[in-house]
Amino acid sequence: MKGIVLAGGTATRLFPLTIVTNKHLLPIYDRPMIYYPIETLASMGIREVLVVVGGKSVGDVVELLGDGSHFGLDLTYRYQAGAQGIAQAIGLTRQFVGDDAFCCVLGDNILRGPALADVAREFEESDQGAGTLLYRVPDPERFGVAELDENGNVIGFEEKPKAPKSDLIPIGVYFLRPDAFDVIGRLAPSQRGEFEITDVLNHYIPDGRLFTRVYEGHWTDAGTVPSLLRASELARDDDAIGRLSPPSERPIG
Ligand code: DAU
Repeated sequence: MKGIVLAGGTATRLFPLTIVTNKHLLPIYDRPMIYYPIETLASMGIREVLVVVGGKSVGDVVELLGDGSHFGLDLTYRYQAGAQGIAQAIGLTRQFVGDDAFCCVLGDNILRGPALADVAREFEESDQGAGTLLYRVPDPERFGVAELDENGNVIGFEEKPKAPKSDLIPIGVYFLRPDAFDVIGRLAPSQRGEFEITDVLNHYIPDGRLFTRVYEGHWTDAGTVPSLLRASELARDDDAIGRLSPPSERPIG
């Protein structure tokens, strides 16, 4: 399985912190934010990773991560001009993905908990078309939100609904296959002008081809000032996902 980290976007919700730098370089406790999604992919046993970069200070992101060899990874990059949404960013990775299944992790998602190798393998070996991890939050209106039937099955996702139909959200971990690129190619932009990942996930629901698992660790995004602080607290308090390497022992560059 291949891995993708999305580190584009404009990060306006973090202004003025992100006026002159890239959100994914901001510190989360003792490491730059982008280390965390990379560790999440590494915890699945993924070694080949493409980082989609965009916005400010792209050169600094590349300087920080390099070719990935200090993480034991093989890293490459793709530039997203503008920020037309998560699905649009994923659409840029087609050539890298080739014929493989892949996992995409959002660059501002912090997971602390069990490694995800089993979940990744389960998806890869299944005949499901796409997958995501679900998590219960107190403020679902900030995210994509799942609608469930009486048996607890997901029957749809709505992006940032005013009246959320549950408190279960798809976090920024997506399992996909190359046919997702055709789905993305047929998407229309949402009312907020973005190509939404939730629309991609919704595509697989009617014929029962969406894989979901409730994530049992701790999770937060880090895209707003309160969640940025929470992310640091989470990283400080819960170190269950193995670090790739203590950064202090491995100077970068
Ligand atoms: O964190 C989970 C949530 O992430 C999901 O529940 C939502 O369904 C999903 O849409 C997303 O919502 P956000 O509004 O929080 O996403 P945001 O625009 O903050 O983007 C998250 C990351 O994705 C960001 O750190 C960089 C990357 N990104 C985003 C956009 C819009 C890109 O690389 N390119 C983009 O164009």
